[in-house]
Amino acid sequence: MTDLLTVHDIHTYYGSSYVLQGCSLSVGDGCTCVLGRNGMGKTTLMRSIMGLTPPRSGSILFDGADITGARPEMIARRGIGYVPQGRRLFPSLSVHEHLVLFHRRSGTSTAQWTPERLYELFPELAGRRKVSGTRLSGGEQQMLTMARALVTNPSLLILDEPSEGLSPVAVDRVVDACRNLIETGMRLLLVEQNITVARRLADSICVLVSGRSVHNADASVFFEDTALRQELLGV
Ligand SMILES: Nc1ncnc2c1ncn2[C@@H]1O[C@H](COP(=O)(O)OP(=O)(O)O)[C@@H](O)[C@H]1O
Ligand SMILES: [Mg+2]
Repeated sequence: MTDLLTVHDIHTYYGSSYVLQGCSLSVGDGCTCVLGRNGMGKTTLMRSIMGLTPPRSGSILFDGADITGARPEMIARRGIGYVPQGRRLFPSLSVHEHLVLFHRRSGTSTAQWTPERLYELFPELAGRRKVSGTRLSGGEQQMLTMARALVTNPSLLILDEPSEGLSPVAVDRVVDACRNLIETGMRLLLVEQNITVARRLADSICVLVSGRSVHNADASVFFEDTALRQELLGV
């Protein structure tokens, strides 16, 4: 099977600041996890894929099409859902409004996500339909951000540090939801600093060090290699 997403040797700047200095990765089935310490370029890599901070060189292929330099709306429409770091909900919108406004049917995916199906995946949100998104607990906000991305019916879901700042119970809920999604055939590209979460979900991993992808491997191989993990991540 060919990979759904292939990032090849991208280089990305913020103005004159040279941040991604050669990143490559591919996403096939299941969950690909991007690991790396703070400031290594993980979020910039996700922003590059989404077209928010396009790379100056290199290529990004998604679902057989070259999306390098395409506009963010185009990339989202092609089927990439984005759950940004820090969640970014709209204070003026209720839970239900977030889902209704973002709901979009896709021609490609067979099992369509609707607001109602998402309330089944995240029952916590079902009882909170009328509440403003920003008045939810951290865990509920994370679920709503995931639901908002899923209701666009993507074929790939990007999650940037979904466990950040959450209680252990809320982290477990997020991990369970990710597992459910993987079982439905959803592909995940997950950024994590929480190594336990990464270990529980990842099929393959990509490690970033100073804006470079220095290690792409099978997750089981990587997590067995304590010395390598210590060298690249310090954990
Ligand atoms: N908007 C920006 N303008 C300039 N530099 C930025 C911007 N966002 C991030 N950076 C810098 O790019 C580098 C990578 O940041 P980021 O991609 O957020 O890393 P990570 O997600 O791995 O913590 C850091 O040195 C950070 O300071
Ligand atoms: Mg980040």
